[in-house]
Amino acid sequence: MPVLAVCSGKGGVGKTTVSANLAVSLSPFGKVLVIDGDIALPNLHTFFGLDDPFVSLLDVLKDITYLKDAIYGIKVKLKGSEDEDIVSELHVLPASTSVKALEEIDMERLKDVLESLKRDYDFIIVDVAAGLSKYAIIPMLSAEASYLVVNPEKASIIDSQKVKKIADVSGVKVEGIIVNRYRGEKKMVEYAENVVGAEVIGLIRESKLIRKCWEEGVPVTMRKPYAKVSRDFFDLARRLTGEKIEVKPYGKLKYHLG
Ligand SMILES: Nc1ncnc2c1ncn2[C@@H]1O[C@H](COP(=O)(O)OP(=O)(O)OP(=O)(O)O)[C@@H](O)[C@H]1O
Ligand SMILES: [Mg+2]
Repeated sequence: MPVLAVCSGKGGVGKTTVSANLAVSLSPFGKVLVIDGDIALPNLHTFFGLDDPFVSLLDVLKDITYLKDAIYGIKVKLKGSEDEDIVSELHVLPASTSVKALEEIDMERLKDVLESLKRDYDFIIVDVAAGLSKYAIIPMLSAEASYLVVNPEKASIIDSQKVKKIADVSGVKVEGIIVNRYRGEKKMVEYAENVVGAEVIGLIRESKLIRKCWEEGVPVTMRKPYAKVSRDFFDLARRLTGEKIEVKPYGKLKYHLG
């Protein structure tokens, strides 16, 4: 499985939420590493309850630490089907929030770092910065496959169209669109596919549980694996592993229970 970049045009659409929860939901299928590739404004660590300062990707890019010292293990406990817990582990490579640590970073080194990690993992997920700055472009181009996260609204979809165009001319394959914060906007799903020119491979519903669990420093898929929003993430993970699960856009619901 290649390195997967989670990207978007517009900021704040849910890339870090998707990266963290995808890491959890892929963990029963193999060895997973999730990397904070948003080195200018990192916050993946907060989803896993890690407190900065820590040894981070920035130290690795500066060659002042070993890669293994910047990788943190997170225990994942999910309820299994026969009353047995599925216990697995995923790895997180965070980035430091320190402005000082960001000085003199050679982003180009990220490609080598990813290359050296590939043989150790079945899935590597990179949470990429929004937009088209060098902080976004280099991680995106360092991956073999990318996924565009959009919200079901025109502005977010149109911005992602631009990112898709850059990916196309750079030879990065956009494997699909993930519509996050979905509340039954069926027409927007179709619109996203037409405008961006890629298939919607995941619908993640709007849920208050996302913020609640983030405040607790635990991804919703870990804290509440049976919640509807968590099932959306598990379905997405199963699609990424090749299972044929249809994406079924549903219409507006009266209640959107997590
Ligand atoms: N499915 C969802 N339901 C409800 N709230 C959500 C959902 N997904 C994300 N959010 C909320 O949206 C906000 C932005 O999410 P997140 O930080 O994951 O976005 P991002 O794309 O990584 O942002 P940035 O571009 O700043 O890196 C957070 O407050 C998060 O809790
Ligand atoms: Mg983010």
